[in-house]
Amino acid sequence: MIILGIESTAHTFGIGIIEVKRNKLKILANVRSLFSTKSGGMIPSKVAQFHIDNSDKIIKTALKKAKIDIKDIDLISYSQSPGIGHCLRIGAVTARTLALKLKKPIIGVNHCIAHLEIGRAMTKAKDPILLYVSGANTQVIAYESGKYRIFGETLDIGIGNFLDSFGRSLDLGFPGGPKIAKLAEKGKKYIELPYVVKGMDVSFGGILTNLKQKLKIKEENKKENKEKSNNNKNNKNNSKKINYTKADLCYSAQETVFAMMIEVAERAMAHCDKNELILGGGVACNKRLQQMADKMCKARKAKAYALPNELNVDNGAMIAWLGYEMFKKNKKGIPISKADIRPYIRTDEVKVHWR
Ligand code: ATP
Ligand code: FE2
Repeated sequence: MIILGIESTAHTFGIGIIEVKRNKLKILANVRSLFSTKSGGMIPSKVAQFHIDNSDKIIKTALKKAKIDIKDIDLISYSQSPGIGHCLRIGAVTARTLALKLKKPIIGVNHCIAHLEIGRAMTKAKDPILLYVSGANTQVIAYESGKYRIFGETLDIGIGNFLDSFGRSLDLGFPGGPKIAKLAEKGKKYIELPYVVKGMDVSFGGILTNLKQKLKIKEENKKENKEKSNNNKNNKNNSKKINYTKADLCYSAQETVFAMMIEVAERAMAHCDKNELILGGGVACNKRLQQMADKMCKARKAKAYALPNELNVDNGAMIAWLGYEMFKKNKKGIPISKADIRPYIRTDEVKVHWR
């Protein structure tokens, strides 16, 4: 069976084409285009226009990579929830058009659950906890009594948005996550930051403000010292020193927020009595986070799994795979009239009938 998956919850328009034989997954193509801006952030109508402009090209590239004809596709799957309405709509319309044109079944899936299910498919994990760390989403998810339940989550911004916003203050450009990771490797000193775990939830807003203040103090100090040394070239000792670098701040930021996430994930593992952890979402590409997950799991005789980067970030292959899982039991898609979008559906509202 060949399934085409369409991802369009936010800035990524992705097409994944997978083949499933005897329940085994093979990814034939996983192509994406990524909306990005130098300034102004993500304006929903602009991102949607970007997806419209790119969809045709991405579908053609994916078919070519997969070495299949569009008529070989047996099922169309698309991200139905949650996400930015403007963006979701482009994916849903593309899916409907293809399903009608090819006369094939269509199925709408939950994006967050797709991150977890692709993790189960690609690793030996059977019943893992998912630490889902992306731009907008930060959740600890596990299966209990017929649903994927959220055991902990961010109370404000997502961890990726936190990194991107701090990255912007450091003039690192977008996305900031990978650049902060690089700079953090040069950090030598841990600078104390607020550590905000509330029960099973986390919050990043206060840490971001604190980091931005530390950066501002550093920059003002640099300016002040420059002026002083210009005014009094012979008296360099007059200058005040700030004893941390930008790299130290990146290092400290990572150590703090990653430790918070690992703490909550560990508590969820203990509470649910599960011994597998999967990392998912763009921030799961971070090697330091992977290392910390590994260490925590080893200490409790559990196993941490990290996926290849192309499956951590938003992608069409995971949407195709979850579509297949939902389809396989009854061999039935959804009526075209129900192939709508559900921007606000939460992970724990989806009834899990496929496991
Ligand atoms: P979602 O819609 O599911 O919230 P998203 O649209 O934010 O996802 P993803 O591709 O899952 O998209 O994640 C993007 C985020 O991942 C960005 O915030 C980016 O900075 C971060 N990121 C990518 N690579 C790394 C890395 N190596 N270290 C830390 N963060 C990273
Ligand atoms: Fe995602």
